[in-house]
Amino acid sequence: MKRLPVLLAFLWLACILVGCRPIVAPLDDAAPAFLPGEAGVGDPVFPLLGNSGYDVLHYTLDLNVDVQRNVISGSATILAEATQPLSAFNLDLLGMTVETVTVNEAPTIFVRDGQELTITLTEPLEARAPFTTVVVYGGAPEALADPELDFISQGWNWRDETVFVVSEPAGAMTWYPVNNHPTDKATYTLRITVDEPHVVAANGVLVEEIDHGDQRTYIWEMAQPMASYLTTVAIGDFVRVETQAAENVLIRHYFPTNEVEQLSRVFANTGEMIAFYSDLIGEYPFDEYGVVVMPFALGFALETQTLSVFGPEMTTEGVNAHELAHQWFGNAVTLARWDQTWLNEGFATYLQRLWLEHKLGREFLDKGMRQYYTMLAGASAPPPGIVQEDSLFSISVYERGAWVLHALRLKIGDELFWEFLRTYYARFKDGVVTTDDFIATANEVSGQDLTEFLNAWLYDVEMPPIPE
Ligand code: ARG
Ligand code: ZN
Repeated sequence: MKRLPVLLAFLWLACILVGCRPIVAPLDDAAPAFLPGEAGVGDPVFPLLGNSGYDVLHYTLDLNVDVQRNVISGSATILAEATQPLSAFNLDLLGMTVETVTVNEAPTIFVRDGQELTITLTEPLEARAPFTTVVVYGGAPEALADPELDFISQGWNWRDETVFVVSEPAGAMTWYPVNNHPTDKATYTLRITVDEPHVVAANGVLVEEIDHGDQRTYIWEMAQPMASYLTTVAIGDFVRVETQAAENVLIRHYFPTNEVEQLSRVFANTGEMIAFYSDLIGEYPFDEYGVVVMPFALGFALETQTLSVFGPEMTTEGVNAHELAHQWFGNAVTLARWDQTWLNEGFATYLQRLWLEHKLGREFLDKGMRQYYTMLAGASAPPPGIVQEDSLFSISVYERGAWVLHALRLKIGDELFWEFLRTYYARFKDGVVTTDDFIATANEVSGQDLTEFLNAWLYDVEMPPIPE
């Protein structure tokens, strides 16, 4: 193309004569350029989970749920703060139909592509500007398959006119638009309206019930920050059973109507457990606690914040201790990246054993831990430190993960280990952690450089020898 150089020369000349300043001037301005946020936060396992450019402070989910048909409709009101000069941003939402999106009450243009809902701002936002997004939406939520489990799906589940939500790790986006990554925790108001006589349990505190005659609205308030995978709603034929715990934490369980007596007995020592963990680690992080037990088997339990979800076959003392311990480690102190699930599961598993140690003695614990050690070594259980999507919740994550903590305890002694637990908890409560934070805190509290020692437990293919 011979004409291109001629054209460029002409443009260059025109620029000199007429001046190109007006065209480029906006770039020279002191005002920052407004840029779109990214479609992910860079999670090594789930690159598209979460979004950058803003930080959510509060979600208000106002949903009418038709439990006969499993159809929801309503709105998500999302109060957030821009973390950069922002021209557009994404939310994560899979399935459902979006009717309208407004930002600061101005209608906006939105585009959907897979799990990404991209919202273009009519008025760009300065960094740190607060803004309110309202997404009006509805539809029949479809839970997401789990690569590790074929009997449970992530997100909004519906079975036998009962709804339960178990979203770890990615399922929250199956029922509301969300910045779907634990690095953006937020508080929540859940306003759920259902036909009588269904009962709605959710995260936090039941602050109000509004009777509309045929329908009833349940308003649940989660006042402490929560990762999206821990949001839950349970709708069904449940009985609320309240007891008062030792630590001023109201305990309210939700049991299937015909299982109340038996399950009340199984969960009777929950208050004692709360007192035990509060003494050991630090004050219980939330206002209330309880479990919701499904009327059908799940083969599964999940530590959903302040209201753990249980299949009836999981209602044992050990699993109760495990899901409760997650309220401290997992929920208040949360993994920052999904390839480090041991930070949740290793802690909950070890703390579950500590409850048994409290009841049955140190020898019982040591014997149990040695049995797991032999089993793990025999099975060549891979190191738990970094995991892939198909093994986020493998036996290594739980049991070798628990061994990381037991090994640390054997190495530094009980006193320093308890101090480590309390320091690590106090420091990262309401936030997120990486394995590096864990190691740095262990080094600091022990006054030793334990990096190599802990790295071996976390990353070596072979299990290191038991200390001493
Ligand atoms: N965090 C749960 C627990 O151990 C288990 C979750 C398993 N999740 C999964 N998607 N496979 O209490
Ligand atoms: Zn767990």
